[in-house]
Amino acid sequence: MVNFIQPKVDPLPTGIDLTGKIVVITGASSGMGLEVTRQLLRLRASTVILAVRNVAKGESCATSLRHDPHIKDHNPKAVIKVMEFDMDRYDSVQQFAKRLRDEIPIVHILILNAGIGLLKLERTPNGHDRTTQVNYQSNVLLITELLPYLVAGAEKTGSPARISWVGSRAHEVTSFEKKSPIESGEGVIEHMDKDEAFVPFQRYGDSKLLCALFMYSLAPRLDPKKVVFNMMCPGMVNTNMSDVLPLHLRMIVNIVKAIRARPVEAGGWIILNSALVAGPESHGKFLMDKTIADKSAFIQSAKGQETQKKLWEETVAEMNLLTTLPAEFK
Ligand SMILES: NC(=O)c1ccc[n+]([C@@H]2O[C@H](COP(=O)([O-])OP(=O)(O)OC[C@H]3O[C@@H](n4cnc5c(N)ncnc54)[C@H](OP(=O)(O)O)[C@@H]3O)[C@@H](O)[C@H]2O)c1
Repeated sequence: MVNFIQPKVDPLPTGIDLTGKIVVITGASSGMGLEVTRQLLRLRASTVILAVRNVAKGESCATSLRHDPHIKDHNPKAVIKVMEFDMDRYDSVQQFAKRLRDEIPIVHILILNAGIGLLKLERTPNGHDRTTQVNYQSNVLLITELLPYLVAGAEKTGSPARISWVGSRAHEVTSFEKKSPIESGEGVIEHMDKDEAFVPFQRYGDSKLLCALFMYSLAPRLDPKKVVFNMMCPGMVNTNMSDVLPLHLRMIVNIVKAIRARPVEAGGWIILNSALVAGPESHGKFLMDKTIADKSAFIQSAKGQETQKKLWEETVAEMNLLTTLPAEFK
């Protein structure tokens, strides 16, 4: 049962200095992504790469960050780089990954923040449900493309690269249990792509469930001395994510948000806690706010375990058609 009033969040500990660090953040053009970018630069990150679908919007965020008085005073030489990254399109994800590998010698921290929650099934050029591809497959493709490069960077620096993925508590309640069970013989991704399987208010949570299942499958295959991979949920945060809702629902959500939602700054602290403060003990774990949580009841169930296994096999097969699989995927 979710507490209606969310506990207060403490700021990040003092003394974090990201001098020399290169960080990539997806969806840096609004909401928590923009706030995390600001916080990273205030913590003196040397280079922050804003991976955004709308480059003009990203450039205008970069300009406003360069004018931030704190950043101007404390991190005047920071490199703020905007790169196109549209998760609706696999080719864009792959072009972004190639550009990163070609232009940036090492990435120390990768924050997978971009995400959406649509109330109807829309299709990407690949034919996938858009909410699922943006939240799940395109993130997996980015990880697949970058894993050897992140590992190589960790070997050069002697400390693990970090991947922190913004998930959601909404993954704990899934339509796979009752409203839209995955039939035996049906693939998980096939299910997500079927019109009749789309449950509007649960699609977002289901797509985030896929993300959590993937993390639980991949993390044990990674060496945490090379890559620490975790996922976190920042709780309800006051961003524009609900702008996709129809007006009548937006009005209700806006009232709930006014009472309950955390300010975007606190959301930023929670995301950065997982990437900067949480240690190797967080590898392969889901953090609710800043606390490591147990796997959800569904994920622990026999059905959940079967879904996790199927999803891993299907996802690896799809990635294998798109790119060269890293050793950890085989
Ligand atoms: N807000 C909450 O209460 C809450 C709670 C739990 C988890 N989350 C998660 O937190 C993350 C950030 O969300 P937010 O609340 O900050 O929402 P937001 O303000 O709507 O930000 C979402 C970001 O994702 C980007 N994006 C959307 N579609 C994209 C695509 N196809 N390719 C690349 N980027 C794309 C957006 O780009 P544009 O700027 O171009 O629109 C935006 O920068 C999401 O993963 C969300 O699921 C949010």
